Amino acid sequence: MQKTYKIAVLPGDGTGTEVVNEGLKALKAASARFGFKLDLHHYDLGGERYMATGETVPDSVLEELRKVDAIYLGAIGHPDVKPGILEKGILLRLRFELDQYINLRPVKLYPGVDTPLKNKGPADIDYVVVRENTGGIYTGAGGISMKGTPQEVAIQDMVYNRFQVDRCLRYAFEYTKRRNKRNTLALCGKTNVLTYVYDLWERAFHEMGARDFEEIRRDYYHVDATCMWMVKNPEWFDVIVTGNMFGDIITDLGAITQGGMGIAAGGNINPDGVSMFEPIGGSAPKYTGKNVINPLASICAGAMMLDTLGEGSAAQAIENAVMWATANKIKDLGAGRMGFTTSEVGDMVAQQVAG
Ligand code: IPM
Ligand code: MN
Repeated sequence: MQKTYKIAVLPGDGTGTEVVNEGLKALKAASARFGFKLDLHHYDLGGERYMATGETVPDSVLEELRKVDAIYLGAIGHPDVKPGILEKGILLRLRFELDQYINLRPVKLYPGVDTPLKNKGPADIDYVVVRENTGGIYTGAGGISMKGTPQEVAIQDMVYNRFQVDRCLRYAFEYTKRRNKRNTLALCGKTNVLTYVYDLWERAFHEMGARDFEEIRRDYYHVDATCMWMVKNPEWFDVIVTGNMFGDIITDLGAITQGGMGIAAGGNINPDGVSMFEPIGGSAPKYTGKNVINPLASICAGAMMLDTLGEGSAAQAIENAVMWATANKIKDLGAGRMGFTTSEVGDMVAQQVAG
């Protein structure tokens, strides 16, 4: 019997709808070729719904999302909604509620893609960042007192417990082992200043590595140095594991070295639950509706989704099609500079996936 995957599709805001449409073309082509079914359920979460109804993620929708096999997300963020409401109310809420404690962000330079890094090519830029995705400064612990007075105090705490750190590290070690490339896991921290939080991370890292993953080499870099080496010697990296805030920052840096937001994809992973896949860029309001945005990041997010669902060959076929497009067709990954429209890029990739 054919396998069927129940997928929630959340196009979200701005260009999210356009890129998700193109990603779905590739996913449908893969399902036809590799013999599995996609049972797609669309949800209109985003800025428009929020402005019309005041809802971000209604509880009933959340309950439905708990029951799907995966979530395919476009982008969240609307120019007419105050920053933070949709990001926290939708994106972060889903990550937290569905306990997607890993944010997996590959940094891979595809053939034919320009990188701002001098003398670096696809052989040099190919690593993965494992960002802890539900803890740290993102938990919202802290507060403001005496707001609006000269004595105002604002506190935002970086909170980690051993359980959160251990499960993230275990995922990272296992991922490094499975990837089997350079078998090197680097912890990115700040043990010279954040002497509580990253002390915990560093001890947990070495304890787990020495005990359970002897075959994996362990490196440590402070976050500021990590940024420097990501630019100067990206070829040193295989897998980087880090906390939520540092992971957010270094993956934007990583994204620009692989050609920018047009190509960078990520997965919010709950290894035992529902995972959610998205381009790591935003909703790009100024390009909305113009058919100029690059859908490759969304297409790559779709490939990651299939890989996580266990459809490795289909995922590889999509990635191969993207590499074929970057190597042979697409001039520049920037919106409006591809030499093709959004839908033309989606069509050419889907056609290539179909074989
Ligand atoms: C990301 C984004 C989000 C984050 C924002 C929109 C909340 O920057 O996915 O990297 O900080 O995680
Ligand atoms: Mn970010």
